[in-house]
Amino acid sequence: MRNPQLNRHGELTHLITTEGLSRQILTHILDTANTFVPLAQRDVKKVPLLRGKSVFNLFFENSTRTRTTFEIAAARLSADVFNLNINVSSASKGETLLDTIANLAAMQADIFVVRHEASGAPFLIARHVAPHIHVVNAGDGRHAHPTQALLDMYTIRHFKKDFTNLRVAIVGDILHSRVARSNIHALTTLGVPEVRAIAPLTLLPSGIEQMGVRVFSDIKEGLKDVDVIIMLRLQNERMRGALLPSAHEYFKHYGLTQEKLALAKSDAIVMHPGPMNRGVEIDSAVADGPHAVILDQVNFGIAVRMAVMSIVAGASA
Ligand code: CP
Repeated sequence: MRNPQLNRHGELTHLITTEGLSRQILTHILDTANTFVPLAQRDVKKVPLLRGKSVFNLFFENSTRTRTTFEIAAARLSADVFNLNINVSSASKGETLLDTIANLAAMQADIFVVRHEASGAPFLIARHVAPHIHVVNAGDGRHAHPTQALLDMYTIRHFKKDFTNLRVAIVGDILHSRVARSNIHALTTLGVPEVRAIAPLTLLPSGIEQMGVRVFSDIKEGLKDVDVIIMLRLQNERMRGALLPSAHEYFKHYGLTQEKLALAKSDAIVMHPGPMNRGVEIDSAVADGPHAVILDQVNFGIAVRMAVMSIVAGASA
């Protein structure tokens, strides 16, 4: 079966998930992003690639980084950007998601950027829009956050150059994390030989080993000699029932401190998709320390989102 993100020519027309995307497509996105990074240093930070196109940002769930960087990215591509305020939209009067989309499509939308608490919502929209409209997933439930994974891959390639000799550790609430899932797919496709998942057993999805990762419940063992550490937020809003004794206890065992970081390689980088819970999954001394590249991730997110929108918009209808 054809990947539903690709059109009949094999071009990326929607971005819903990193799962099933080829190394060639992922690398093309990273290389395209690379051409946009220098734009930030120019007086005029714009290119005309999406001039005349309309990008609709539909965030049904809260966001700081993703929403803002998508808006900046669309503006830098010279698109017209419309941010739907979901709280005052007719969704609150019972309008269905697909009716909302049909109405916005009637306003000549070209790209929908969608964040939704329901896994599968961006895919549902992609299945129903006309072929000239593109859907980019900005995070859906526990399922996927592909542009976060791509900006993470960009950051890793920027600092480490080559994926094929790395040990990457993903630490924390993997069970509820769309970022972890998207990163594991991207890392394994790009040739990272060792991806480690470090978490208490209650925060690991069953069968995660089948995704090609090594599982560790002891963080000290898991961090030994890694090149990259990706910390995850405890997603309390997605937890049903108590999966942990307390935040204090979690920090003691799984929080990244300078002492635990010292077990990784001396040039290891520390990443976090944000928002961070300082003192829960990461100590401030690490979050603000010399190994942290957390704000670089945010900055690279603009170029990566420019790349994704320009690539999908360039796909044939
Ligand atoms: N990383 C991330 O998705 O952050 P926001 O929720 O602020 O967009």
